[in-house]
Amino acid sequence: MKTSASAMVPEEGNPAIDRRGFRQCLGQFATGVTVMTAETGGHRAGVTANSFSSVSLDPPLILWSISKTSRSFQAFAEARHFAVNILGQDQIRLSQIFSSSEADKFAEVEWSIGRHGSPVLDGVTALLECEREAVYEGGDHLIIVGRVLRFATFEGEPLIFAQGKYGVAESHPSLRSLPEAAGEATSDAAEESLMSLLFRTYHYVSLNFEDHRRAEGLTQAQARVLAALYDAAGQTTDDLARTIYLGKRDTEDAVADLAERSFVTISPKRTISLSSGGRKRREAMLARATEFEEEQLAGLTREEIVKAKKFLSRLISRNIPTWGTEQHMETSRR
Ligand SMILES: Cc1cc2nc3c(=O)[nH]c(=O)nc-3n(C[C@H](O)[C@H](O)[C@H](O)COP(=O)(O)O)c2cc1C
Repeated sequence: MKTSASAMVPEEGNPAIDRRGFRQCLGQFATGVTVMTAETGGHRAGVTANSFSSVSLDPPLILWSISKTSRSFQAFAEARHFAVNILGQDQIRLSQIFSSSEADKFAEVEWSIGRHGSPVLDGVTALLECEREAVYEGGDHLIIVGRVLRFATFEGEPLIFAQGKYGVAESHPSLRSLPEAAGEATSDAAEESLMSLLFRTYHYVSLNFEDHRRAEGLTQAQARVLAALYDAAGQTTDDLARTIYLGKRDTEDAVADLAERSFVTISPKRTISLSSGGRKRREAMLARATEFEEEQLAGLTREEIVKAKKFLSRLISRNIPTWGTEQHMETSRR
């Protein structure tokens, strides 16, 4: 049996010593993204959280955990009620606001007071209004169990968080007809819908490109940081997290890894820039991308390629959602 590249590069360790590695390991578990909100004594608290989990149907219980170092810790430890706002794929900005250190996180967002007294955010895909049922010690976090008093499900697709990055949920490409043996065009391509072909093309091509990134010794997060700094030097981790759609802590981890390997330098003002080694690594990735594209397009005429590009650009401009312009550009970045 062939071993996959990822299986050949195991990373193991003791979480007490290698925290970053431990966090990366946990990031292999994909979650949704919630914003927990509460109001106590006229003070509103809101925290982005992906530790949310359902617990019990009868009685209806859910849980999440809050860091004891969070500024909102006291508010949630005391609040009798709280709301779980489950974010949609167009709400990365909300996730960023509620995971930031902004003084008034509610100032820029649309919200109202829910039926059970907690602030509830507009435009979410689902909402659970809860009463605190129990709290448990959980190391550097407090585990909060809530009894759901009211749920509301809205339209929209959920926002996903995995491997430290925001994503969207898609049906697994294997659900479509399986590709034939490598190298052969599927005989029934004419039967398959164009949308299904496009989706599978993107999936398999990007999967193959991942080998190049791994060959350069970079995680996806590190590759994105290098790409962003190549385009604009002197960014802070907050700037980076905002533009490359990574969680703040994952951006910090990626920057710390890159700094240890001397690919980036951090100024006294905490702005980050590429070192000459970092520029070289980014350029090596760009060269790989060019070579990869040439391989993929081998055998096609220039005319066919130009036609395909025009066609795809047209399709994109017809479908681009108002929130998606930057995100689509970012997720296609290598
Ligand atoms: C995707 C994502 C998930 C997070 N999950 C949690 C969580 O489950 N619990 C937690 O305490 N912090 C979590 N955080 C970090 C908090 O959102 C962040 O520390 C926030 O700044 C806390 O706000 P505060 O200090 O104003 O209370 C998460 C951040 C992100 C981006």
